[in-house]
Amino acid sequence: MIHVVRLDKSFLVAGKAVPVLRGVDLDVATGEMVALVGDSGSGKSTLMNILGGLDRPSTGQLLGGRDVSRLTVREWGRTRSRDIGFVFQSFNLIPTATILENVELPLGYRGMAPGARRQRAVALLDRPGLGDHARRYPQQLSGGQQQRVAVARAPVGPAQAAAGR
Ligand SMILES: Nc1ncnc2c1ncn2[C@@H]1O[C@H](COP(=O)(O)OP(=O)(O)OP(=O)(O)O)[C@@H](O)[C@H]1O
Ligand SMILES: [Mg+2]
Repeated sequence: MIHVVRLDKSFLVAGKAVPVLRGVDLDVATGEMVALVGDSGSGKSTLMNILGGLDRPSTGQLLGGRDVSRLTVREWGRTRSRDIGFVFQSFNLIPTATILENVELPLGYRGMAPGARRQRAVALLDRPGLGDHARRYPQQLSGGQQQRVAVARAPVGPAQAAAGR
C-alpha cells in the first residue's frame, strides 16, 4: 500500500529551485496496478524515484504501510531491498558483471544463499529467453535484451529470500 500526501519536489538548478512535483496526492492499494502517464519531462521518473525511496521529497509525506518518512537510511535500504523492485528507465546494469551476476546480486542482498541464488537467477534469465547469454556482459547485448535483464532483476519478496535461506 502506498499513501502519498501533498508531496512537492524541486530540483536546484544553478542555485534556483525548479519545482517538478507540486502537491501530489496518491493512493495505491495492495495488488493494484497503476500506470503513470504524462509528457516527457513531466515528473514521472522523479515521482517513481521518491516512491522507491531513491530520492526524498522536498516537502510532503510518503507512507508505505508505515510512516517511511521516519525511517533511517539503513532501514530504508533494507525496506527497498526487500519490498521494492525497480526497472530503471536507463537499466542501470552493472557493466563489469555478467548478466547472470547482475540478476544474482540483489538476491544476495535479500539473504538468499549462493547456490539457490544462482539457480534462481538462471531461471529468471531463462524466462525472457536470455539463458544462452547468461555469461555475457551488458554491453554485449542489444538494448531490448538489456531491458529484459533489468526486468528479470526486479522481482522481490520476503518469500523468495526466505526460500533460499
Ligand atoms: N537531478 C535533476 N536536476 C534538475 N532537474 C531535474 C533532475 N532530474 C529531473 N529534472 C527535471 O525534472 C523534470 C522531470 O523529470 P523526470 O525525469 O521526472 O521526467 P519524466 O516524466 O520521467 O520524463 P520521460 O518521459 O522523458 O522519462 C524534467 O524537466 C527534468 O529536466
Ligand atoms: Mg522518465
